[in-house]
Amino acid sequence: MCDSVYSQQSEAVVICNQHLVDNKYLLRLQVEDIALKAEPGHFVHLNCHPSLTLPRPFSIMDSDPGLGTIDIFYQVVGDGTEYMRGWQAGHRTTMLGPLGRPFRRPESGRKALLIAGGIGYAPLDFFARRLKIWGFDATLLLGLEAAPPFALIASSREVGPEMVVDPLALARLEQLDIPSRVASLEPKPGFFQGYVSTLAKEILLDMSTTVLNKTDIYLCGPTPMMQAAARVAKEFNLGGQASLEEHMACGFGGCAGCVAPIKEPEDAGGWNYRRVCTEGPVFPLDAVLWDKL
Ligand SMILES: Cc1cc2nc3c(=O)[nH]c(=O)nc-3n(C[C@H](O)[C@H](O)[C@H](O)COP(=O)(O)OP(=O)(O)OC[C@H]3O[C@@H](n4cnc5c(N)ncnc54)[C@H](O)[C@@H]3O)c2cc1C
Ligand code: FES
Repeated sequence: MCDSVYSQQSEAVVICNQHLVDNKYLLRLQVEDIALKAEPGHFVHLNCHPSLTLPRPFSIMDSDPGLGTIDIFYQVVGDGTEYMRGWQAGHRTTMLGPLGRPFRRPESGRKALLIAGGIGYAPLDFFARRLKIWGFDATLLLGLEAAPPFALIASSREVGPEMVVDPLALARLEQLDIPSRVASLEPKPGFFQGYVSTLAKEILLDMSTTVLNKTDIYLCGPTPMMQAAARVAKEFNLGGQASLEEHMACGFGGCAGCVAPIKEPEDAGGWNYRRVCTEGPVFPLDAVLWDKL
């Protein structure tokens, strides 16, 4: 099993590895076979360095099937991402992907409120742009602990040619007619001060009943942020989907190292631990047992 899965590894070449702000980077990789199949919500299991036994999972933030590239928005938190930080154009690595089950297309006429926390922005930015292509109304809210010094106000048109794109430049979404709003715990003019779940609640309270009844919630971010946003969704009786981030080992369903508590379908009742790498990472919002995560 393991041998056959690992023989499916794709070769990837770094096109650029752009430092954005603080410990956050944007990595663009040439990896044609993954770029062709990538959908919002998919992730890759990336080999960061030969000294590390396990690959590391990262959401695909964008793919260009024509150019054969994918983008990964990552933050440096440990050994693997520390190695990634040092990658230069031309560096070669391997990865498995695209993995997992992506976001499902909503029923026609639905509206999407996407709520991201920090690096959880990556799959939701991809999904917001896909929803727009499909003809859905989408609004994206981003929660940050601290307001970054520049990134959120720079539009991708304003940045220099060395920068591929600034994923935190929500102006890019605005240009696509995807309204967005940032919540920051640190006060900053133009930002909502507080938790993104609180901002979401204020926005939902302002909606007419007709719009509210058509709205679905989409989540990705740190568990406490998603738990808070899921409570808000429940308060308003809204469904949707959530992309979970569990620690992963194999990445292809072989080790049960990534399980999350998920409700069984109505007819079966109860709940069970489900593998986030193969049965997720995207689950129906109301299937996740948020208080058991
Ligand atoms: C489906 C999925 C998609 C992800 N997408 C992204 C992404 O787009 N960008 C990004 O920067 N990160 C993403 N992550 C998290 C990323 O995988 C971890 O940050 C990375 O594995 C850390 O590797 P490391 O060797 O640098 O740190 P490690 O030394 O492995 O860990 C450093 C610290 O990070 C914590 N950590 C490691 N993995 C996770 C995890 N899965 N969830 C929560 N905490 C973790 C550890 O507990 C430790 O405290 C994703 C995780 C999953 C499961
Ligand atoms: S990481 Fe091994 S089963 Fe999910």
